[in-house]
Amino acid sequence: MRVGVVLPAAGAGTRLGPGAPKALRELAGEPLLVHAVRRLRECPSVGPIVVAAPVAHVTTVTTLLELYDVTVVAGGAQRPDSVAAGLAVLPADVDLVLVHDAARALVPVSVVESVIAALRAGARAVVPVVAVADTVKRVDAAGTVVATVPRADLRVAQTPQGFAREVLESAHAPRGVPPLGHSNDGHTDDAGMAEAAGVTVETVPGAAEAFKVTTAFDLAVAEAVLARGGARG
Ligand code: CTP
Ligand code: MG
Repeated sequence: MRVGVVLPAAGAGTRLGPGAPKALRELAGEPLLVHAVRRLRECPSVGPIVVAAPVAHVTTVTTLLELYDVTVVAGGAQRPDSVAAGLAVLPADVDLVLVHDAARALVPVSVVESVIAALRAGARAVVPVVAVADTVKRVDAAGTVVATVPRADLRVAQTPQGFAREVLESAHAPRGVPPLGHSNDGHTDDAGMAEAAGVTVETVPGAAEAFKVTTAFDLAVAEAVLARGGARG
């Protein structure tokens, strides 16, 4: 079964602060996106890769990734729009699809390969997860604690998330043109969309290094991880 990857990289990176779109921000002298694509190209099971780039940067991204044999498309306004744009151009012979955040630039090859192995073993949707380290509180609108949420059965979802192609396609198909003000449908990941469509989502162990670069602090952490020479496994 052929594995393709959709790499949503079209976000602005608002939480990172002013500057270029997040995927183009530099980590150890290279854009986050280049790190992410290089990791994926180190994975023996990964075939075609489609990158959804910020609409104003399609040419830049195409040039930047010339060495890595990827297809670049323009992303959309919300993450699901970018994923759908990438999915639409994946070659027809791809039957297993991974969706991977460009912002998770240091994902270990072993996590990618575990997701693929679970799909090959028959899972229809797979998400890498890690345990929650902190105690979790539910609060009301005023910020008063309403409950302490037991964390033993909570997991944080990472990417790449893997799907049988038809599962991902049908999860994204009903979106159509969203009603004004509802363009994100509340879904922050693809597994959530598959789950909402009634698909069973399996988990595999994620990794600390697969964390998402969201803030300037995260970028500093990523620099430190790279300097340590880790995150390769
Ligand atoms: N993404 C995308 N298209 C969008 C929004 C997000 O392809 N319209 C991608 C981002 O580039 C990122 C991944 O989805 O690789 C995860 O999103 P997130 O971490 O939220 O990135 P940004 O949306 O860029 O960041 P922010 O929310 O802080 O603006
Ligand atoms: Mg975002």
